Amino acid sequence: SGHGNHTMPVTSTLPVLPEGQPLQALPRLSNQSAVPGIFKAELAAEPGVVRFAEGIDTPVLLYNGTNPVIEAHEGDRVEISFRNGIPGQPTTIHWHGMPVPADQDGNPADPVVSGGERVYAFELPEGSAASYWFHPHPHGLTAEQVYRGLAGIFLVKPKDDPIPAEYGDTVLMLTDLRIAPDGTIPESTMTDFMNGRVGDHLLVNGQKNPQMAVALGEKRRLRLYNVTNARFLRLKFENASMTLIGTDGGLIEAPIAIDELLLTPAERVDLIVSFDKPGAAKLITLEYERGWMGPGKPDEAGKILLTANVSDEPAAATPPLPAKLRAIESLGKPVVTRRFVLTETMGGMNHGSMSMQGMDHATMSMPSDSMGMKFLINGASFDMDRIDEVSKAGQVELWEVINEADMDHPFHVHGTQFQVVEHEKDGKVTTPSYRAWKDTVNVVAGETVRILLRQDLPGPRMYHCHILEHEQLGMMGTVDVQA
Ligand code: C2O
Ligand code: CU
Ligand code: CU
Repeated sequence: SGHGNHTMPVTSTLPVLPEGQPLQALPRLSNQSAVPGIFKAELAAEPGVVRFAEGIDTPVLLYNGTNPVIEAHEGDRVEISFRNGIPGQPTTIHWHGMPVPADQDGNPADPVVSGGERVYAFELPEGSAASYWFHPHPHGLTAEQVYRGLAGIFLVKPKDDPIPAEYGDTVLMLTDLRIAPDGTIPESTMTDFMNGRVGDHLLVNGQKNPQMAVALGEKRRLRLYNVTNARFLRLKFENASMTLIGTDGGLIEAPIAIDELLLTPAERVDLIVSFDKPGAAKLITLEYERGWMGPGKPDEAGKILLTANVSDEPAAATPPLPAKLRAIESLGKPVVTRRFVLTETMGGMNHGSMSMQGMDHATMSMPSDSMGMKFLINGASFDMDRIDEVSKAGQVELWEVINEADMDHPFHVHGTQFQVVEHEKDGKVTTPSYRAWKDTVNVVAGETVRILLRQDLPGPRMYHCHILEHEQLGMMGTVDVQA
């Protein structure tokens, strides 16, 4: 480059990740139970090493060394014996989107200490088939443990799947990696805390732009998971067509052809992709403006997540997608309306209150002069010992989530699935064109999103922004659902 790069130490070179390798399926966690209807297994959160770039080891945290997929069925009882093997840090497993009892849901108030063990046990009700996932939720450490690698997929399959088995069922877990020249994963900076941490490499099942081979005209079922801390993924499949068949909480009522989609942190989609043209079909990112503070621009266009090489050979005939996938119940009239106002504030915060957010933890690298950034719900910063809302099990509620901040915040509720009623911005109201179960919805800056929900199980449940750095900086609350 003409300014002496050759004199720089070799360790200043950013690792180059190989591209174009065959897409790997994520490993499955095997069921240790021989009894039908019971899924039993052991999971440990532990340090591990991954070789993302040739010759460079990256220390990470993983479940069982590989982040295996848990696959169970509706009606199953699940028993996971968990061990926290993370040195010096508590952790939990939170079952994102799943209808599990509150005391089994890995709340920040129920930590498993370093070296500790516990069993997570719950039943998967009928009708709960969906693309769930699991991740740590310890107070003040969620963002860090996730960007260091801890996240897994939890697939709940229905007894009878209306989607033809010939389409396969491929999980694509999208993660976001930042690695330093020495291969380590750097700690978060102030910019990361403000905007949410965005990495340098978008990975699919841990691989950069992996390739898959398909036949001409082949249809494939692809489940896309945004497991990144903070990356907004506006996605398009070039040279292939996409049909939406499911959202966070399972199948929608009927397939819908789509040209592109926005997948914000923690959201999932279930797609049928039809490879109707020979050549390369690429899953790419498009530009998205989600609001950004400080230097840099996070969600650039033109990144290739995955390449499908479509052969000239026509695919064997497969059954068509059914016109009707399932019925989704109407939740009916809400008996309570709650408002949640999301704000960001700068300044006016002392170190004492900041330490309540876990920011004084030894692993945090937030500069002390930048500790003024707060992310609030209804003017309050998360407090584990405070109940923000009191609700009742079985009660239908309308939640109005009002984003008065300058950036988008994906809003997530634990313990249940909700239905989006409408979006309102600048006086303009739009309603979704289809009914769907969701557990996370993006609330655009300046927008109000109204959702209908019902919590069927009692206990304390969190709701929060799923930009994990914002969750950590206070944008979280607790609703206590009473029996
Ligand atoms: Cu994936 Cu509290 O969330
Ligand atoms: Cu969750
Ligand atoms: Cu946020």
